Amino acid sequence: MICIPVTGRDVEKMAQEMAVAAEQADVVELRMDYAPGADLRRLLKDRPRPVIVTYRAKRQGGMFEGPEEDRLRLVQKAVDLGAEYVDIELDAAARIRRNPKTRLIVSHHDFERTPSDLGRLHADIVAAGADIVKIATMATDIRDNLAIFDLLRRSKKETIALCMGEPGTISRIIGKKFGGYLTFASIRAGRESAPGQITARDLRTLYRYEKIGWGTELYGVIANPVAHSMSPAIQNAAFEAVGRNAVYLPFKVDGDPVAFVNAFKAIDIKGYSVTLPHKEALVAAMDEVDDLVKRVGALNTIFNREGRLIGANTDVSAALDALTAALLTEKERRSEEPPLKGRVALLLGAGGAARAVGFGLLARGVRVFIANRTHERAEALAREIGCEAVALSDLASVAADILINTTSVGMHPNVGATPFPAALLRPGMVVFDAVYNPPETRLLREARAADCRTLSGLAWFVNQAAAQFELWTERPAPRNVMEKALRERLGK
Ligand code: ATR
Repeated sequence: MICIPVTGRDVEKMAQEMAVAAEQADVVELRMDYAPGADLRRLLKDRPRPVIVTYRAKRQGGMFEGPEEDRLRLVQKAVDLGAEYVDIELDAAARIRRNPKTRLIVSHHDFERTPSDLGRLHADIVAAGADIVKIATMATDIRDNLAIFDLLRRSKKETIALCMGEPGTISRIIGKKFGGYLTFASIRAGRESAPGQITARDLRTLYRYEKIGWGTELYGVIANPVAHSMSPAIQNAAFEAVGRNAVYLPFKVDGDPVAFVNAFKAIDIKGYSVTLPHKEALVAAMDEVDDLVKRVGALNTIFNREGRLIGANTDVSAALDALTAALLTEKERRSEEPPLKGRVALLLGAGGAARAVGFGLLARGVRVFIANRTHERAEALAREIGCEAVALSDLASVAADILINTTSVGMHPNVGATPFPAALLRPGMVVFDAVYNPPETRLLREARAADCRTLSGLAWFVNQAAAQFELWTERPAPRNVMEKALRERLGK
């Protein structure tokens, strides 16, 4: 079930918010501590959904600051009025008289950390007479979620357990898989009643909350930051399109990614996408890697074959396939010659993306030059993969057929920037921008105006994601669905 808390400051606002929340929620939580004087009887009279009535005390993270006696009187009134659920803190539960119509959620919040002895706390809450146990703890590390999942899995009593904070967001999405009674979601972005909440709409449409259950397979992207990743939108859309019982999550990993992957074996993650800044570090955590990962020294995909983690790299072929497919003429595509052989490519940037593309280009017989803001990095990468570095002041000296931008220059929100002087763009040149947000960057716009052939990073991004999906599921990826989901997300 999805519960949406409403936090209006008076009875009118509460009633309005309850009506809006009811469209997305199975249960509405009336956070009466935001409007303690509001007429509860009136709110309950026309409630469109079952409600949880909560007068959260300040000491447990709520707004109620008055005397405890007053607070308990209000909670008692909610019970006496027959609200479906009342939430009462563990340390006050004994003071509430029961009513058979009302189920008591006995709760404990820890805003500092996720204690290791959750089992004891759970037992104390059960002993206090809870109909439903609620435990919410602050996650300081994404691994804290595992304590919550373990608790849910072992619990015989109906239990709501979740981690707060951004590292805890996944517990709000997949707690249900481990038996969680309900999850809290916000009515809309910016109206979260606790840190790490996501909107009910995202829960339903992006993560397909309805379908999550014991058998749901888990996938996700390991990144930092992860909040703006497009991968959850496109991979979840793909799972939905092929009818697979799977959910794809954002894993914000700011500590050691190897420790994360090892710890999360406990919940049998079936596959990962890996992106900045973890592509190199995770190679060491694999049971097996393919040849390309060995040669490039970086992976972007992990798949789980009967518990063994296998690292793969779909970045390189995704970039090269996009380049070959979209930019060569029909005649070139049909010719026997390896299509890119003998061409001259100029790569802008010297990070992981440049390394992957440079590597792929060289393997296809392209002559590669690298230019970068920090020239020493260009030289180091050129030495490492076996090509040439060129100074930014000397770009005109390279007669490139192919220009590839792998820097973030021109990416949203700095859409006015470009990494390459328009004056050096020549007709017929192939210009490939790894940036996909926006799909048409200033570089591509100027390239089109200069009669170049252009390719957006969108094709690269969709290619690498589709290849990941195929490694995980061993079936063709619904590429059109993935591209559509990406464009929709970018449009927001
Ligand atoms: P990735 O793995 O995506 O390639 P990265 O390793 O952080 O990411 O590399 C980013 C690249 O974009 C680098 O080449 C970086 O240049 P520096 O080596 O000088 O840092 C380049 N880059 C990022 N922001 C830039 C900017 N504003 N102007 C020019 N180059 C930039």
